[in-house]
Amino acid sequence: MITLLRVSRPAIRFVSVLCACAVFAGGWITVSAGQSRSITEGVYSSQQAARVKPIYEEQCASCHGTALEGAVGGPLTGDGFLANWSGRPLSNLVDKIQKTMPFDSPGTLSRQQSIDLAAYMFEVGKFPAGRAELNENGLAQIALPIVNSSGANARAGNVSELMRAIAFPNSNILFNLQLKDPSKEPKREMPVPFDYAKWGDTIYPGWLAIDQAALALIESTPLLLTPGRLCQNGRPAPVDRADWKQYVADLVDVAQLAYQTSKARNYDGFADFSEKLNQTCANCHKVYRDVGGTEGSGMQRCLIPNP
Ligand code: HEC
Ligand code: HEC
Repeated sequence: MITLLRVSRPAIRFVSVLCACAVFAGGWITVSAGQSRSITEGVYSSQQAARVKPIYEEQCASCHGTALEGAVGGPLTGDGFLANWSGRPLSNLVDKIQKTMPFDSPGTLSRQQSIDLAAYMFEVGKFPAGRAELNENGLAQIALPIVNSSGANARAGNVSELMRAIAFPNSNILFNLQLKDPSKEPKREMPVPFDYAKWGDTIYPGWLAIDQAALALIESTPLLLTPGRLCQNGRPAPVDRADWKQYVADLVDVAQLAYQTSKARNYDGFADFSEKLNQTCANCHKVYRDVGGTEGSGMQRCLIPNP
């Protein structure tokens, strides 16, 4: 979550992350020492998956897609999905299905149906079938594979990691202009003990740091449009949506403005800049990040908004 730290005269804007949002919080048990099998070892049968397919199509496909690719509900295959369950006991996933799905009428599936639905997800996800059916016995001893939270197809960070790596530090460098005129900064000595930001300031002092921060924001924007980029919750970032593209374009504009103003070494030109930058970040966050309140909002992120 981004908050604005308001300091009197003038109102100072900074980005501070109060909640790195524990998306995966809430009653999940970590893999216990007793876990002995993995879903890669043929833990379900194809008959079992075939048997439950009609139930999936009738009760789940409308929200999770006919190929489990995700729609209103996230995908039920692939790296993003697996990252949510990385290394967890299979019993947790079956509990999640039985206790909370279908989203609009939870508690209506039997235990066996919930187990079968997990088997169907593994079949579509191309985990190998075996001869025996998956059943309640030993469910807690079977583990989901360990998958990096970024997902292999995103190649690098998820949206939140990207924001924290680029948008966060560089915006704060620009927000800092509310307090300091770079042309009035005294020449600095190498700090002892080593401090990364202060040391950097001796190498690229004054306005150079501002040029760089603005450039970092501009140049990072294509990364927000990379196909396959995932949000923390495993949902694909809505990179094809017109409104998302517009929010990204707005970020380019505001960062360009910072770049040109910085190149002109025009400190007064930054007078109302923090407000603009803050607004640009917030416009996208309102729709795609800050939805659903704090509790459980992680799963609501990056959802296509209702018209
Ligand atoms: C009305 C829409 C809707 C229907 C129908 C629905 N789901 Fe979901 N599902 C969601 C939403 C929204 C989420 C994300 C919120 C959450 O996790 O509670 C979700 C989450 C999930 C998750 C967790 C995904 C993850 O990445 O951790 C699983 C597993 C799941 N659903 C399975 C099912 C199954 C199986 C069915 C059919 C029996 C089903 N869902 C039916 C909307 C739906
Ligand atoms: C095009 C939309 C968009 C724009 C523009 C945008 N953000 Fe984000 N930001 C997001 C989304 C979506 C998330 C949550 C991603 C996730 O959960 O993986 C996020 C997450 C973050 C986070 C991580 C904290 C958290 O709660 O996960 C920070 C920090 C952040 N943004 C800062 C910024 C700043 C600063 C700007 C402006 C310079 C900005 N963002 C512009 C969409 C955007």
